[in-house]
Amino acid sequence: MASTTLASNTEIDLVEKPGLNKRKDSGNGLIEPQPQLQESSNGDANMETTERVPDSATTEIPSPGSAKDTGDQVRVVELSEYKAAARCLAEAFESDAVGRYFVDTPGTKDWTPEQKWELHLFMMEVITYCHIAQGMVTTIGPDYGGVALWMPPNSADMNLMTFLRSGMWRLYYRLCREGRKRFFTEFMPLLHDIKAHTLGDRDASSWYLVYIGTKPAARGKGYARKLVDHVTCQADRDGRATYLESSNVANLPFYRRLGFKECRKLYLQRSEEVVELDIMVREPKGKEE
Ligand SMILES: CC(C)(COP(=O)(O)OP(=O)(O)OC[C@H]1O[C@@H](n2cnc3c(N)ncnc32)[C@H](O)[C@@H]1OP(=O)(O)O)[C@@H](O)C(=O)NCCC(=O)NCCS
Repeated sequence: MASTTLASNTEIDLVEKPGLNKRKDSGNGLIEPQPQLQESSNGDANMETTERVPDSATTEIPSPGSAKDTGDQVRVVELSEYKAAARCLAEAFESDAVGRYFVDTPGTKDWTPEQKWELHLFMMEVITYCHIAQGMVTTIGPDYGGVALWMPPNSADMNLMTFLRSGMWRLYYRLCREGRKRFFTEFMPLLHDIKAHTLGDRDASSWYLVYIGTKPAARGKGYARKLVDHVTCQADRDGRATYLESSNVANLPFYRRLGFKECRKLYLQRSEEVVELDIMVREPKGKEE
């Protein structure tokens, strides 16, 4: 699930630990982004660059766009593709309890389903943008059938540029008061803290699967499994753990089969019905208990 950290000394300090990246230690060999600001057709600031690069010292993941339109092969998504990738996640999580948690609030009770969808989609666009810019986003299948958002080991905190360009600041105003509290004040800090607590001194050196989703029409083709395998194969080679939060108990068997184990539960408690997430960690092969 989402997590995006903005440096805490920025003027727009909406979140204490908003975490796309929750980690301060960025001495990781990541190539510093060299963004070039462009105006997109809708007037939004946009970045047209292969800004984010995974930890190439330890990760043999293809570079962004290196294998476009490869059908059933996993490839890394570029910044210019963020809306299409986000749409996949928006469709996948449209009825997910965590997805609904930010959209179904007292302040939106008179909204139409279309208005709620627009907000949900916008959230996914912001989150996807942040992860392309400073994490890693992968896709598989035609028309972004499956998409995964990752934070590689030793990722840097979300910087102010990403915060502004992703539209994260606009999300703050687009969410209603309660939605804002749920996302910025409860969800993101909670996820950050639980992850740090669960992984301890491995927090910075582990992979983090933030979101994974397959479009309803593309399910059952092995896309999600390939998206996960793509990173866990590398994690195995590097001896790294992989961490995730699962928002749906129905997915637990799927994750278990991929080597993840439940560690603890996390509860979002601001709605009438408490939303439960399962924290799962996958140990690298050979290091399982
Ligand atoms: C969960 C999800 C990502 C799975 O995507 P998918 O591309 O259909 O999964 P795959 O085709 O790779 O399935 C891999 C295996 O897991 C099984 N599987 C998939 N989803 C499963 C589920 N919910 N429960 C049990 N098994 C499941 C498949 O049958 C398949 O088994 P096999 O390897 O023995 O053939 C997809 O259903 C989805 O997007 N759901 C909504 C969003 C969501 O819940 N995301 C995860 C949040 S934690």
